[in-house]
Amino acid sequence: MCGIFGYVGKKTSAPKAVLEGLKTLEYRGYDSWGFAWLENDKIVVKKAVGKISNVKTINSTPVRNSFVAALGHTRWATHGGVTDENAHPHTDCNDKYALVHNGIIENYTELKKALLKKGHRFKSETDTEVVNHLVEDEIKKTNSNSKDSGPLLFEAFRHSFKKLTGLNAVALLSPNNEIVLAKTGSPLCLGLGKEEYLVSSDAVAILPYTKEVIFLEDNQGALINSEGIKLYDLNSGQVINREPTHLEWSIGSSSLGKYAHYMLKEIYEQPKVLSHIVRNYKDAILALSGVVKSSYGTYIIGCGTAAHAALAGSYLFSKIASRHVNFSFGSEFIYLTNFLTPRSLVIALSQSGETIDIIDSVMEAKKRGAKIASLVNNLGSTLYRNSDYKILLGAGPEKSVCATKSYVSKLAILAILASALADDVVSGMKQVAKASESIEEILRKKYVENVKKLAKKISSHDHIYTIGRGLNYPTALEAALKIKEVSYIHAEGFAGGELKHGAIALIEKGTPVIVFAPFDETYDSIISGATEIKSRGGFIIGVSPKKNQVFDYWLPVKDAGSASCISQIVVAQLLAYFLALERKADPDKPRNLAKSVTVK
Ligand code: G6P
Repeated sequence: MCGIFGYVGKKTSAPKAVLEGLKTLEYRGYDSWGFAWLENDKIVVKKAVGKISNVKTINSTPVRNSFVAALGHTRWATHGGVTDENAHPHTDCNDKYALVHNGIIENYTELKKALLKKGHRFKSETDTEVVNHLVEDEIKKTNSNSKDSGPLLFEAFRHSFKKLTGLNAVALLSPNNEIVLAKTGSPLCLGLGKEEYLVSSDAVAILPYTKEVIFLEDNQGALINSEGIKLYDLNSGQVINREPTHLEWSIGSSSLGKYAHYMLKEIYEQPKVLSHIVRNYKDAILALSGVVKSSYGTYIIGCGTAAHAALAGSYLFSKIASRHVNFSFGSEFIYLTNFLTPRSLVIALSQSGETIDIIDSVMEAKKRGAKIASLVNNLGSTLYRNSDYKILLGAGPEKSVCATKSYVSKLAILAILASALADDVVSGMKQVAKASESIEEILRKKYVENVKKLAKKISSHDHIYTIGRGLNYPTALEAALKIKEVSYIHAEGFAGGELKHGAIALIEKGTPVIVFAPFDETYDSIISGATEIKSRGGFIIGVSPKKNQVFDYWLPVKDAGSASCISQIVVAQLLAYFLALERKADPDKPRNLAKSVTVK
């Protein structure tokens, strides 16, 4: 949610580096973009409504062999409409400093009132701009001899930042080619290259420069200039030392390659992700199963797609391991924490590891002494750092806003974990391997063409329903979410047995209904449900290993036991992708959404 990228170095054009960095971070928000750099010791700001990916080049005067800084932002609007003026960076009354922000400044109304009284002039409706004017005041105050650079600049910035309430990440570019930054909430990651230093909301944008990164903790800040990166504790103002983390990700895994969209690329990467888990995760999963066994009261939480994986986890635990685990949406769990004790275990699922609703819940659980285990994709993320036990999803960078490969990765780990709890880890691994083979068949050309054909057939419908029972109920929910996220068709998932208790009233002649019917204990009941819908005119799309006469359209998916939910969802991912294309929507940048929701 909002992307920040900054470059200080002498190897490449700083504005160009920021342009490329922002393109990588565009998944974090694409309402508007902007960046700032220096020309003749003056800050130049360029910003506009629209997508940064449409910006081909920027006209900046190249500077050679000296350290140059630039800073940019992709916006997901919170305060103030989507306008050029509200796009970041913002500047102060004298346009001396440029500033970008990710988060919400909860006390900005009071701060703004006081600053207006002092005569500051605001150019935007954002909460962000108060920071510019606070810094302007602080610099006037602390640097009477106008030494607004180095540690003194950081000090002025720190004092201003400390006046903000809420969870925020802010970075400021000074006319001395320096960047100062601080955070209390949203992520910031620093890259330590050779003669070039970077700041980014996500390490993935730093990869082209270096694999040596520092994930800034809350209440830490930094000063970046030609001398390198200096870290500070925000409370004391003291310099701190931290060793960088070495990232294993490769650049290749974050670029588009031969695919038209990241969503499609990431759908195709799924068999590889699953094989990686089957080959390498046994020990980590066995260790986590020991933690689950010794806990008293286990909770599983996630938001969005991760919530559907968590719900599937609760079915997998029950079905395979006869173990009760309490499911909750990450955003609701905070209201359910009264039950937690030091013996409780919270399993938190998150691709980004930064979703604020998950982080808040986890922090509350920690306060109550509960242990936190996380299944998380981003190494070094807030969730990762705050977990007692963690398993990385190993899905590689997921750039499409709608989650695909991170979902199957979570399901695979949960399926194997459930088998480990039943003291039969091998059978879980075998089933996941089967699901992976089945996905490879789904991704063959002929099959994909068939899904495309179906998308064409149903793309003009306003409503699509999806049903599944048991383990396939979360699949139905996730399938509906994929369809609505990227194609904007209203899609709704139901527990197969519930449709007839109300929603069946919505079925009209030709209404598409996707029925998930693997060979398990739900098969007969879900087919009866499908028959009832068909009698009312529904157009039945069966996702099942076996053709059934009730299906008007059949999409075969081989049985993989309890891991069938992993392969079945891939059909829905592909269908959602092609529905988006049919409806001329950009599947990688669905309207109003952001990949990582770091504000409430
Ligand atoms: C956003 C994204 C979803 C994602 C959810 C949870 O809403 O648009 O695709 O599932 O956040 O994200 P997380 O990073 O916590 O898995």
